[in-house]
Amino acid sequence: MINALGIPQHLLLLGGTSDIALAIAEAYAGRSPGLHVTLAARPGPRRDAAVVRLDALGCRTDAVDFEATETATHSRVVGGISTDIDIAVVAFGLLGDPETAWTDIDVARELAEVNYVGAVTTGVALGARIRAQGHGVVVALSSVAGERPRRSNFVYGSTKAGMDAFYTGLGEAVRELGGRVLVVRPGFVRSSMTEGLDAAPLATTPEAVAEAVVDAVRDGKEQIWVPGTMRIVMSGLRHVPRSIFRRLPI
Ligand SMILES: NC(=O)c1ccc[n+]([C@@H]2O[C@H](COP(=O)([O-])OP(=O)(O)OC[C@H]3O[C@@H](n4cnc5c(N)ncnc54)[C@H](OP(=O)(O)O)[C@@H]3O)[C@@H](O)[C@H]2O)c1
Repeated sequence: MINALGIPQHLLLLGGTSDIALAIAEAYAGRSPGLHVTLAARPGPRRDAAVVRLDALGCRTDAVDFEATETATHSRVVGGISTDIDIAVVAFGLLGDPETAWTDIDVARELAEVNYVGAVTTGVALGARIRAQGHGVVVALSSVAGERPRRSNFVYGSTKAGMDAFYTGLGEAVRELGGRVLVVRPGFVRSSMTEGLDAAPLATTPEAVAEAVVDAVRDGKEQIWVPGTMRIVMSGLRHVPRSIFRRLPI
């Protein structure tokens, strides 16, 4: 169970090699000696390195295989974890090349399958888990890109819009089961996903997202933007006429 300070005993990272997910695990590890972390991720050197990194912080770290596109396995992966899941972080995702993404069917389909379909089937499995446990918090890493999709990366934005809507709704559904969903909408985060790209205005770090998540879980929030000022920016941008929006340098 999560304690009164919002600290979990067992954290599940779906997309267990994600820079943001690992920063969240590190933030909790610093507050909870001996934290149990399960990394659900594709096997390989990146996952092995993540296990070593968390073990070095005093975590008890397990790794389980997880492939976002293998939707038929998601119930088994989430349901097969023997210890109660206090917080599950849904962190897997692909950015992809934005121009290829709207011109190549296979690339578009992969983005949709990983970021949306896989997120939905994982969410269904997490909902079942909350029902069985009677508690649990899901942290869903959405994006401001889904709030008002831009010409520059609208395929990614569309997948995040869909997953954001799903997890917002899941939050309503699991409330009556003792659960909660926190939807996190970061702006540009300097991580492996954005390596080599020019940083957007208000760019942030995985560590800043992690601290915002820890605070929001503790405070019982259901939706946050990171940085917080992004909420004001996006509420304005949502209402800018399309003819102007398309000319903005974002
Ligand atoms: N970075 C940003 O600017 C930003 C902004 C807003 C939201 N987000 C969202 O935050 C989340 C984490 O992103 P990040 O910045 O931490 O990026 P990251 O370090 O690149 O992490 C992406 C994760 O997705 C996993 N993944 C990709 N395809 C997968 C598949 N088919 N099956 C299983 N796992 C798969 C990767 O696993 P492998 O190691 O196996 O490749 C990795 O764990 C993503 O959902 C992203 O959309 C990021």
